Amino acid sequence: MSDDAPGDPALLPAELTRVPSSARVWNYWLGGKDYYAVDRDAGDTVAASYPQIVTLARQSRQFLIRAVRTLAGELGVRQFLDIGTGLPTMLNTHEVAQAIAPDCRVVYVDNDPIVLAHARVLLANTTAEGRTSYVDADVHDPERILAEAREILDFDRPIAVMFLGMLGYVADFDEAKSIATRVMDEVAPGSYLLVRDNTDSGDGVREAADNYAKSGVDPYHLRTVAQLGEYFAGLDLVEPGVVPVEQWRPGAVELGATHAEHTGDHGGLGRKP
Ligand SMILES: C[S@@+](CC[C@H](N)C(=O)[O-])C[C@H]1O[C@@H](n2cnc3c(N)ncnc32)[C@H](O)[C@@H]1O
Repeated sequence: MSDDAPGDPALLPAELTRVPSSARVWNYWLGGKDYYAVDRDAGDTVAASYPQIVTLARQSRQFLIRAVRTLAGELGVRQFLDIGTGLPTMLNTHEVAQAIAPDCRVVYVDNDPIVLAHARVLLANTTAEGRTSYVDADVHDPERILAEAREILDFDRPIAVMFLGMLGYVADFDEAKSIATRVMDEVAPGSYLLVRDNTDSGDGVREAADNYAKSGVDPYHLRTVAQLGEYFAGLDLVEPGVVPVEQWRPGAVELGATHAEHTGDHGGLGRKP
């Protein structure tokens, strides 16, 4: 949990800087500053065959912002379980949620040691009324995630469970579904599932996924749009359903993007009845 987080990422073992990590490559595409040369090289290799990746990363952050605003605002959710957090960047989940309702509680989950090292940055920016915490866990271990999240979140009240750019790191699709289902089984009625992942939209993105895996990053498994829809089985899909992220309740364009572009990245939100 957060209290154990090491404070200074510079003190992490040097080996971590020799192999690219998905969190740091993602940070590079997002325009952040928390990556090493090895991550930049991996990111550039992917971008060479799939230049939309930079737009995809930035549009995905806008999707996160719009979805969390919808959840905390219109839908009145006060608890968030963000699994596969990534490195802190601008407008993280707790900042977006707590700007709308300062009492929001947010639990972040990731298995990357450098994300863990940055957890204090996330925690420092939380509101006085709200609470933000961090669980060091692998998505393949939902029991641990649930047990640790229960220390912070009230499972008798609605929780927004978020898997953004995350379930593609679970190689087996049935396992990815069962992880999402396991977590949703435990949360109260009126909870929500928010999922976003890139889809298998052609040769370019498949080649990019191959190059990504060859660079040494954990492989990312492209799914079909229909498969993303399967994550919401038994839930009531919130309009407009599972759609390209730029079409999900489009709003003001933020974070330096100038226009919406279709990349294959899809997202959706479902409510547990
Ligand atoms: C592409 S980033 C997405 C970050 C953030 N959710 C977003 O949408 O901006 C994927 C994140 O998932 C995390 N991740 C990858 N595999 C994981 C696993 N097996 N267990 C937990 N987290 C994992 C990575 O460390 C990284 O932070």
